[in-house]
Amino acid sequence: KNIVILISGRGSNMEAIVKACAAEQWPARIAAVISNRPDAGGLAFAQSHGIPTAVVDHKAFGRGDEARAAFDAELQRVIDGFSPDLVVLAGFMRILTAGFTGHYEGRMLNIHPSLLPAFTGLHTHQRAIESGCRVAGATVHFVTAELDHGPIVAQAVVPVLDGDDEATLGQRVLQQEHRMYPSAVRWFVEGALQIDGAAVRHRGGQS
Ligand code: GRF
Repeated sequence: KNIVILISGRGSNMEAIVKACAAEQWPARIAAVISNRPDAGGLAFAQSHGIPTAVVDHKAFGRGDEARAAFDAELQRVIDGFSPDLVVLAGFMRILTAGFTGHYEGRMLNIHPSLLPAFTGLHTHQRAIESGCRVAGATVHFVTAELDHGPIVAQAVVPVLDGDDEATLGQRVLQQEHRMYPSAVRWFVEGALQIDGAAVRHRGGQS
């Protein structure tokens, strides 16, 4: 299976997936890492591991709905050049059009740093702390047209500790992301995931 990973920055989740794919010998290869930012830190890691990289810079497309549609069309063209079976959003910070998400329906995953459906959007850890939540976490889900929605594949929970701030809680959650996201991607490439309405079933009984 061909996996294309989309990043916007540091790319630590991408790195965890690349390493697990090699170490666990998945029936898959990372066909490309694509960024919407030319300065994304993760691009260097991918290049140093011999993975093809590409940049589709959203800033070159301007602003507004037409620009967003044109960016998504170009991104889709570049992604599809790598014949992906799965597209993995790993810290990819762009809102995607319905045309784009529809094209990859059932074959695009995202990780979001909250326990969805709580705290969609940005600043999830800050909002969890301000809401007095005693637990926080991250969610891997299939991507649908609605931002941070879509069938949930996996969730990881961590405690919110007294004195936590965005950085300390974010770090605790990120450690779990690095464990959970590779597992979820592996389930997909092994054919273990089946979307059933709003839910995801794991063939073979994983949970
Ligand atoms: C992660 O917290 C992820 O959940 C969110 O953006 C962050 C990306 O980090 N969507 P990285 O680029 O994978 O290091």
